[in-house]
Amino acid sequence: MSAQIIDGSAIAKRLRQEVAEKVKARRLSPGLAVILVGENPASQVYVNNKTRACEEAGMKSWTHTLPADTTQQQLLELIAKLNDDKAVHGILVQLPLPSQIDTQTIISAVDPTKDVDGFHPVNAGRLSLGLPTFISCTPQGCMILIREVKKDLSGKKALVLGRSNIVGKPVAQLLLQADCTVTIAHSKTQNIAEECRSADILVAAIGKPEFVKGDWIKPGAIVIDVGINRVEDKARGKPRLVGDVACLEASKNAAAITPVPGGVGPMTIACLLRNTMQAAMQIASN
Ligand code: GUN
Repeated sequence: MSAQIIDGSAIAKRLRQEVAEKVKARRLSPGLAVILVGENPASQVYVNNKTRACEEAGMKSWTHTLPADTTQQQLLELIAKLNDDKAVHGILVQLPLPSQIDTQTIISAVDPTKDVDGFHPVNAGRLSLGLPTFISCTPQGCMILIREVKKDLSGKKALVLGRSNIVGKPVAQLLLQADCTVTIAHSKTQNIAEECRSADILVAAIGKPEFVKGDWIKPGAIVIDVGINRVEDKARGKPRLVGDVACLEASKNAAAITPVPGGVGPMTIACLLRNTMQAAMQIASN
């Protein structure tokens, strides 16, 4: 049997429309400031997509593009200005940052009430305590996609492949809050294939093209593929995007699987809009 393909593009479109309608109905004017340091081509595409989506949802956005040799102090000064700017409800510093800048110092400098990425230690801590907070966009998107297939996740075995602060750790927290039994596997994990084979829910976020093979998937599992990897395709004569899961093989065993592209990627942007709207609502209610 072939798996249900979870259409992240369609679900994200629905979510973006919901956000746009709420923004209009509540006469909100959410503003997102995005900071891009350097010329990483993938980051440039992501940032453009984020700001365009803001405008489509009736939000304001400002992109601050800084040169690759920007100092940490210069970046901190910009963040301080944005923290004080009343028109700015959300601040997003696109990662990765150049090596002269300490990422954690920058993340910690963003006002936690404007941290729509949910990366600030206060917000990451609140998530781990189960307190209301900004939930990081990609993990939030993963959970919405899983719940499209299955509402009650209680007692399910979930395996998260990857332990990054951006995806692996927060998605593991969210699965735990949903009463799953959660395992996090990483580069030092022994026998990852066997870990995968017992997972009812598999979230792959390791950035290795088609690392997860079809016969690692438990029959009936829900597979969420966070990977976006560019690989050479000699037949096409141009690169193509693949996930962390060998999708075609995996879809023979899985009950449901996200495609790449068109799965988790669009959800990240939709959840960013949702978080920015929430930031504006919180400020409006104070
Ligand atoms: N780089 C890759 N993913 C993300 C994200 O979700 N937020 C930010 N700020 N940078 C990223």
